[in-house]
Amino acid sequence: MSISLIGRSVGESVTLKLNETFAILKAKGEPVIHLGGGEPKSKAPIDAITAIASHLNSGEVRYAPVDGTVDMKKAVIRYTLDHYHRKVEPENIVVSSGAKQALMVALQAILDPQDELLYTAPYWVSYPEMARLCGAVPVAVTPEDGTFIPRMKDIEQNISSYTKAIIINNPNNPSGMIYPAEFIKEIVEFTEKKGIYLIMDDIYHSLVFDGKKTANPYDYVSDFSENSKLIVINGVSKAYAMTGFRIGWAVANKKLAKVMANIQGHQTSGPSVLLQKAAIGAINGIQSSVESLRATLENNRNVLVAQLKAFDGVYVTPPDGTFYTFVDFSKYDKDSTRLSNFLLEKVRVLTMPGVEFGMEGYLRLSFCGSIKDITEGIERIKWALDPNSPNELYIGERKLVRDWN
Ligand SMILES: Cc1ncc(COP(=O)(O)O)c(C=O)c1O
Repeated sequence: MSISLIGRSVGESVTLKLNETFAILKAKGEPVIHLGGGEPKSKAPIDAITAIASHLNSGEVRYAPVDGTVDMKKAVIRYTLDHYHRKVEPENIVVSSGAKQALMVALQAILDPQDELLYTAPYWVSYPEMARLCGAVPVAVTPEDGTFIPRMKDIEQNISSYTKAIIINNPNNPSGMIYPAEFIKEIVEFTEKKGIYLIMDDIYHSLVFDGKKTANPYDYVSDFSENSKLIVINGVSKAYAMTGFRIGWAVANKKLAKVMANIQGHQTSGPSVLLQKAAIGAINGIQSSVESLRATLENNRNVLVAQLKAFDGVYVTPPDGTFYTFVDFSKYDKDSTRLSNFLLEKVRVLTMPGVEFGMEGYLRLSFCGSIKDITEGIERIKWALDPNSPNELYIGERKLVRDWN
């Protein structure tokens, strides 16, 4: 079979694959707990549902404009003004089928084969594969001091004449860390000076804790011209718990937005008008669901972190936002894939191996599920890993017996 170079270079999404494994085990009636999930469990906002339902009832579901409907763009303009205090124009906006597609068309619009795409480790699993899909070279920048926050020095050491763009995901999936405002300021200034694109993937920016906030990159931009190389990515998936609606967007300079729209026009055309209606409903509607999700996640984070702090041998840096924490399990196993498989096999707890996010020895644990799942999931992991734990553990009716050390 003849497969393209790009086709061969791209790997399967491990997070999506593990989600499938979870669904299969669950369907078989296995008592599996998902601590690897990437989506809130709450319902979509009522304003989203009524907006999509009334449009569906009209029966007029036709092609949408390639880069977003007029009303959707108005909603994004409003969102950008509310959250970033920046007035953008419809021509600055490309609405896509999820933040994932917005990122992908942005990368296709700017990367040539052999160009390098930088991003900081730990990183979202799709960034390296997206670079490869463009024939470009992914370059992960790992903080030298062993934290999750790189210094500009770490970034600068990885810049070459091929560097075309840097992605910063704030707050970060999988670490949950918010990048300090000083770092965002430095990177905005640095990329402007070097003429490199800066892509801010802000998809989690509303889900932050302890009264903290993510820095607004526009605060540090000096080039407000149409040549600005700042691209800001957002969407309704996480904050509005609308992952299945697949609506995201990019805000970029007008020339670039036009190129992105051209690319999208030949890929998928505009996202479904129905789903855009729902997104408009969510953005323009009552915002209480976002605060309620944020508060629930903060509480879940507190429970998970407290449990992990009482877990000998694991090291946790409490996340500032998102619904993930990236936990150092290297004392138990330095091979995160092996450890993740072991936990799924022995105690039916699904975790995401850190190596997929660019750091070995860690597991990504999600706290977007129920408190019961979080508590029981960590109890099971503890039982599996602690050689001093009792020989037996009951999961419902099922008795597990330790046959390992
Ligand atoms: C960092 C990051 N960016 C983008 C996305 C994609 O979001 P969407 O569901 O809107 O495509 C995700 C989803 O997991 C993510 O974690």
